[in-house]
Amino acid sequence: MSCVLAIDAGTTGVTAVVVDASGQVRARGYQEFAQHFPHPGWVEHAPEEIWQATLESVRAVLGQVDAAELTSIGITNQRETVLLWDRETLGSPRRAIVWQDRRTAEICVRLREQGHEPRVAELTGLRLDPYFSGTKLAWLAEHEPRTWALVEEGRYAVGTVDSYLVARMTRGLEHVTDVSNASRTLLYDLTTGDWSAELCALFGVPVDALPEIVPSWGEVATTDPRSFLGLSLPVAGIAGDQQAALFGQTCFDVGDAKCTYGTGSFILTNTGGELVRSDAGLLTTAAWRSPDGTDTFALEGAVFVTGAAVQWLRDGLQIIGSAAETEAIAATVDSSEGVVFVPALTGLGAPDWDPHARGTIHGLTRGTTRAHIVRATLEAIAFEVRDVLETMHGTVPARTSLRVDGGACANDLLCQVQADQLGLEVQRPRLSETTALGAAFLAGLGTGVWSSTDDLRETWQLDRSFSPRGDRERADAEHARWREAVERSKGWALL
Ligand code: G3P
Repeated sequence: MSCVLAIDAGTTGVTAVVVDASGQVRARGYQEFAQHFPHPGWVEHAPEEIWQATLESVRAVLGQVDAAELTSIGITNQRETVLLWDRETLGSPRRAIVWQDRRTAEICVRLREQGHEPRVAELTGLRLDPYFSGTKLAWLAEHEPRTWALVEEGRYAVGTVDSYLVARMTRGLEHVTDVSNASRTLLYDLTTGDWSAELCALFGVPVDALPEIVPSWGEVATTDPRSFLGLSLPVAGIAGDQQAALFGQTCFDVGDAKCTYGTGSFILTNTGGELVRSDAGLLTTAAWRSPDGTDTFALEGAVFVTGAAVQWLRDGLQIIGSAAETEAIAATVDSSEGVVFVPALTGLGAPDWDPHARGTIHGLTRGTTRAHIVRATLEAIAFEVRDVLETMHGTVPARTSLRVDGGACANDLLCQVQADQLGLEVQRPRLSETTALGAAFLAGLGTGVWSSTDDLRETWQLDRSFSPRGDRERADAEHARWREAVERSKGWALL
């Protein structure tokens, strides 16, 4: 049977899956890589480690399926993270600056004070926040001029993780990115569908250093077997991970929405061919571009820290052994008993957008146990998603259900609290690796494994639906207390 290899190069690790024509996952591989925190608020990844993790995860799936069955590759990736590499040697002169990195907060303040934000928002659908690639590149130009000179000379290529992986897989032959990744850089004009000379000038990025923008599906490159584990396969699908998840959830119709619980949580609503703008902290973004050049857009709420908060309980506080334990630990108490955790560990994203906010835990008493803190962490995830969805429903019509995916949706307690908080049906599909599935769908659509989005819709299967439970008043009171705690966490890094 024809199969597609999907690579999901996420923030904490790389997942490879092999998906067959019925939409079933036939093989899986995963490799974590190191997170580097050189200063408070800074987050970096070594490009070579991302590449090695990619090879490792693909090697794992090649041990489970026959390589001859693979027809194509789909790539999906953590977005906004920027990398530089030498076009000849493919080595990187420095580590990648990750989407979570806050080092450019001051550059954003400066650009805002200079009055650039309205124009930037008009062209990009984004805002001036350290989250996006453009500010990170401006920082490199300012702080690492010798490296940047080689970008300007054309020796170093600039790109996001998708471009970097394609460059490594093709031995440097191709330098491409898809529209969904391009639209997160602050350098891309949503209305023309191309890089913007005006924005490149504003952030000081030579347009020639950027990749060529390609459609989200259709063959764009062929892997070189000398670099890529003996595989010569077409790269036929590329999308940023959140747009890939929207695709993987088969949210093809206007108004379809999904929430992916990963390192952060990202809620996207398909707005079709319409650029729906928000002045309430949501982002307008490209969802995908078909090979005929038609663009589909989405409205997005990006919450920075959700799974990363659970990771912090494990690695920072060391009060849990694994993420999977959180459900059982949280269930040992009926409520968090007034404990509210605002996991603004890398500032706040949607809808509050404060790079200077920091994490806070409120309401501790002598009776507080780790169970309350763990429960408060799961509740925080649900509150954050409610904040985004309520904001979204001010702009697009409210839905009666939300499709969820990503690692944390395996947690029944979280899904139930989410349904209670939203007052909506929360639907969990059988396959939670929707991001990788979306990349597989794109590549399979690009190579004829599936002939239409209707074919893909057939593969979506419900695992479980969570209906909101009765006590609306209690849910609202808990949410109001959360909002108060969020306000108190703002601006903390400035004190
Ligand atoms: O915008 C950042 C996003 O793409 C990261 O996703 O799944 O690694 O949390 P994830």
